[in-house]
Amino acid sequence: MRLELPANTERFGANTFHHIQKVFELDGGYELDEEFSSPFHVIEQISRGRLFEIERDMAIIIPVKNERLRLLEGVLSGIPHDCLPIILSNSKRDPVDRFRMEQSMVDTFCRYAKKRYVIAHQRSPELARVFQDGSYPHLLDQEGLVHNGKAEGMLAGIALAQLLGKKYVGFIDSDNYFPGAVFEYARLFSAGLSQSRSPYSMVRIQWQSKPKIVDSELFFAKFGRVSRITNQYLNLLLSHYTGSETELLRTGNAGEHALSMPLALLLDYSAGFSIETYHFISLLEKFGGVMPSPFPEVMKAGIDLYQMESRNPHLHDADKGDDHIKEMIEYSLGVIYHSPVCPENLKKEILQELQSGKIIGKNAEPVSPRKYPALVNLDYEAAGRSTDWQRHGNFIPA
Ligand code: GDD
Repeated sequence: MRLELPANTERFGANTFHHIQKVFELDGGYELDEEFSSPFHVIEQISRGRLFEIERDMAIIIPVKNERLRLLEGVLSGIPHDCLPIILSNSKRDPVDRFRMEQSMVDTFCRYAKKRYVIAHQRSPELARVFQDGSYPHLLDQEGLVHNGKAEGMLAGIALAQLLGKKYVGFIDSDNYFPGAVFEYARLFSAGLSQSRSPYSMVRIQWQSKPKIVDSELFFAKFGRVSRITNQYLNLLLSHYTGSETELLRTGNAGEHALSMPLALLLDYSAGFSIETYHFISLLEKFGGVMPSPFPEVMKAGIDLYQMESRNPHLHDADKGDDHIKEMIEYSLGVIYHSPVCPENLKKEILQELQSGKIIGKNAEPVSPRKYPALVNLDYEAAGRSTDWQRHGNFIPA
C-alpha cells in the first residue's frame, strides 16, 4: 500500500490525533522503493510483509443483528485470509432461529475457505460465563446475559480476541454490500497500525463516499448527518483546549475502526451507538492530561490515532429510519455533554443543537449512555479456565 503521510497532527496530552490520510495505491508494489527512506518523503510505502504480519495477529469482529445472510457472506469473503473473524451475533432465535442459519452459513464458508473462525451469540449463557468467571459483571444484565446493543457485542468480541491471544482488533459492520470495501478496510487497519511506534494505537476509517440516489441520479455523499454533527462538536471540544479552531477530527462515528489490543483493553466504553464517539472522550478523559491518568506508562508511550480515507464507496443497508439517526445523534452528543472534560459553553451549544433539531424536548438533557469500565479489569486467566465457551456449539474456537 502507498499512503500519504499525515500532514497535520493535534496533540492532546498523550494523544496524537493525525490528519486524514489518503490512500495513493491500494497495492504498493512488491519491491520497496529506495526513495521512501528519504527524510523528505511524503508518501509511505508499507510492505506486504508488514501488512501480513499484522493481519496474522488481528481479529476482525463483525457485529450482526438480523442481516441478510448473503451480505454477511460477502463481508466474510472480503476479510483477508490471515485475520480471524469473530462473528458476534444478536440475531433472533425464534420463531425462526436466524443465528443457527448464520452459524451454518459461516461454518460452510469457512470450511471451503479453510479458515478458522469464531461465532457466538451475544445472549448465550456460554458467552456470559466469560464475564461471570472473569469477574466483570458490568456487561451482564439482570438475566445474567450480555446486554443487548452493538457496543456490547463489540466488547464481548474484544474479550474473546484477547482470550485467543490476538494483538489487534478491527471492527467491520455485517451489512456491507461490497466485499472489496471490506477488504480495503482490513488492509487500511493493518497499514494504519503499522505506522505507530507506540503499543497504543487506533485507526479509524472515513468513507470516501456513501452513494445515494438523489433525483434518480447517483450522488456520492461524503458525510452523513450523524457524522457531520458529531465531528463538529468533537472539533469544538478540541479547539476549546488547544485555543485554535480545527476540523481535524473527521471520524467521530467511524463504525469501521481498529485498535491495538493494549489500547482496546484500557479504554472505557459506552453503550450502543455512542461507542465510537466515546472513544475520543475516553482518550481525552484518561490520557488528555486534563484529569489524572490511571495509566502513567501510557502517558509516557503516547497514543497514535490515525484517520484514513478509503477509496471504495461504502454501501450498506442504510434505510434504518429517522428515529435511528436521531438516536445516534443524541447518544453521540450525550457522551460529549456528560463528560467532565466538556466545558459549559459547549454543553449549551449541544443542548441548543438537540433541542432545535427536535431530538430532545425543550427543557430536557441528552441521555447519558451506560458506561463500561476498561476490559483490562476482566480476569482473563479465570475466564479462560472455563471450558464452556469453547465446548458449546455457539462458539467454535479457532
Ligand atoms: N452484535 C450486535 N448486537 N450487532 C448489532 C446490534 C446488536 O445489538 N445492533 C446492530 N448490530 C450490527 C448490525 O447488524 C450492523 O452490522 C452493525 O451492527 C451496525 O448496525 P446498523 O444498525 O446497521 O448501524 P448504522 O449503519 O446505522 O451505523 C453504523 O455506522 C455508523 C457510522 O455512520 C454503525 O457502525 C455505527 O456505530 C456507526 O457510528
